[in-house]
Amino acid sequence: LSDDFRHYLQAKQDLVDESLERIFHAQTGVPASLAEAIRYSLLASAKRLRPILVLMANEAGGGNDGKAMPAACAVEMVHTYSLIHDDLPAMDDDDLRRGQPTCHKKFGDALAILAGDALLTLAFQVLSEKYPPATAAACCRELARGAGAAGMVGGQVEDLAWEKATAQRTAQALENIHALKTGALFHACLRLGAYAAQGENLAGPDPVLLGSLDGYGRCFGLVFQITDDLLDVEGNAADTGKRVQKDAGRGKLTYPALLGVAESRRRAQLLAEEAFGHLRPLKERGERFAQLLRFVLERDR
Ligand code: IPE
Ligand code: IPE
Ligand code: MG
Ligand code: MG
Ligand code: MG
Repeated sequence: LSDDFRHYLQAKQDLVDESLERIFHAQTGVPASLAEAIRYSLLASAKRLRPILVLMANEAGGGNDGKAMPAACAVEMVHTYSLIHDDLPAMDDDDLRRGQPTCHKKFGDALAILAGDALLTLAFQVLSEKYPPATAAACCRELARGAGAAGMVGGQVEDLAWEKATAQRTAQALENIHALKTGALFHACLRLGAYAAQGENLAGPDPVLLGSLDGYGRCFGLVFQITDDLLDVEGNAADTGKRVQKDAGRGKLTYPALLGVAESRRRAQLLAEEAFGHLRPLKERGERFAQLLRFVLERDR
């Protein structure tokens, strides 16, 4: 990975951190305990990959960071809510997240559930307040599709159902879980970025750009979750900021569980090649997307 790209990632991460802080700070009238729980999870140390994808898609569509930042923050709010709920005792029952005790360990289940609810809602508030009507509507639609019953939430239901299921475990079922619980939100990030860049141009984003980003996003989501599953087997808590070696004990249907570590790596590599193919029509506009995917393939956190 080039130094130049590392600096790019760090700069965008810092920008996202600042913007999240600023947007949340502007919310008045939030009960102190709720504000504390939200800030604790939202502003903790995180990779900010989803907002960075929003910024990158926006840039590829000709927009500047300022235009895309509300959309980038909205996605990170939804993602943070999904993590808070994912860690609850009724779901994955985890005690470590982003290098610190999980939200419910620190604040109790009720406040953690409500902090998640508030973050999910705030995301749509931000989109509707910060964009003109047509862009706001498009962004709300894409984020709702990615996060909702046929997207992330649906995938979480499948993920939990397969812990207990006795049906034959197949690569097809596995890919479906990953595409929904993780892929759908990444896909939404790219679309939000493209819509944020279009301004009030009602014709919508360039279909070539959208087509490439859709294909790339599908592969990116799968690669990302395969590497997440691999980190659970091969990673450590100090780097990942969360407990490792938990999936097998819970009976999760994961890539390493079904196919083994080596074959999982091979699949991730194949999907990355496929993603690079989707970027080809974008020429040099696709370069950063390729680098981000290489970063994901090599990540240890
Ligand atoms: C973890 O996401 C949850 C998954 C979808 C696998 P990240 O690995 O992006 O977590 P943060 O945002 O950096 O904490
Ligand atoms: C979570 O997948 C996906 C979400 C929608 C939050 P995991 O359950 O594997 O994520 P981690 O490993 O706890 O971060
Ligand atoms: Mg989970
Ligand atoms: Mg989990
Ligand atoms: Mg995991």
